[in-house]
Amino acid sequence: MGYNIAIDGPAGAGKSTIAKQVAQRKGYIYVDTGAMYRGLAVHFLKNHIQPEDQAGIIRACKDASVTIGYADGQQQVYLNGENITGMLREEAVGDMASKSSPIPEVREKLLALQRTLAKEKDVVMDGRDIGTNILPEADVKVYLTASVETRAKRRYDELTAKGVSCSMEQIAADIKKRDHRDMTRDTAPLRQAEDAVLIDSSAMTIEEVTEEILKLCR
Ligand code: DC
Repeated sequence: MGYNIAIDGPAGAGKSTIAKQVAQRKGYIYVDTGAMYRGLAVHFLKNHIQPEDQAGIIRACKDASVTIGYADGQQQVYLNGENITGMLREEAVGDMASKSSPIPEVREKLLALQRTLAKEKDVVMDGRDIGTNILPEADVKVYLTASVETRAKRRYDELTAKGVSCSMEQIAADIKKRDHRDMTRDTAPLRQAEDAVLIDSSAMTIEEVTEEILKLCR
């Protein structure tokens, strides 16, 4: 069994930034499980399936194979052998991932891959149900959150830095909608595991959060 650090939390809380830092500092592998759901979402979109078409999504799962690899230390996602990492951050992909991830067949498809990685390697794995469902025996569990305002501001800054014009109100509304969907779904909803340490990053720097998590590790 590898040493496993599980980081769960809502969209925009800084999970991937922090998880990458912790992984780098410990020399562990960073596993972004959201990217796996996004990888399956690319498959559904390529097959022109609507997010509401549950039966179509379940059917399409049968001929999708998502695997991950690493290039220059960065996680790459392969869909049926094709590297689709560059497509994962598109808005439509995020939306499809959020709408298809509550479907048990979709989750089942990725569960073994996630557990196998954690068994074989020392990992920092981030997602929504890592501490509660995927790795209930993880050595360290963190529930990382931040206020809606903070998360909206971070996303707004990120987009405007890229030259994308956007509205803070719209971003905040989208974040609230995604939180609601992730937290109220029947299968593996986002919630803090009983033995997870809560960290609210609203008023903390990346370095402070990273240090806080490193203190919890062996
Ligand atoms: O973290 P992210 O935005 O890349 O995740 C995309 C979607 O995938 C998100 O709306 C919820 C879902 N997801 C999930 O259900 N379980 C995970 N372990 C990770 C992500």
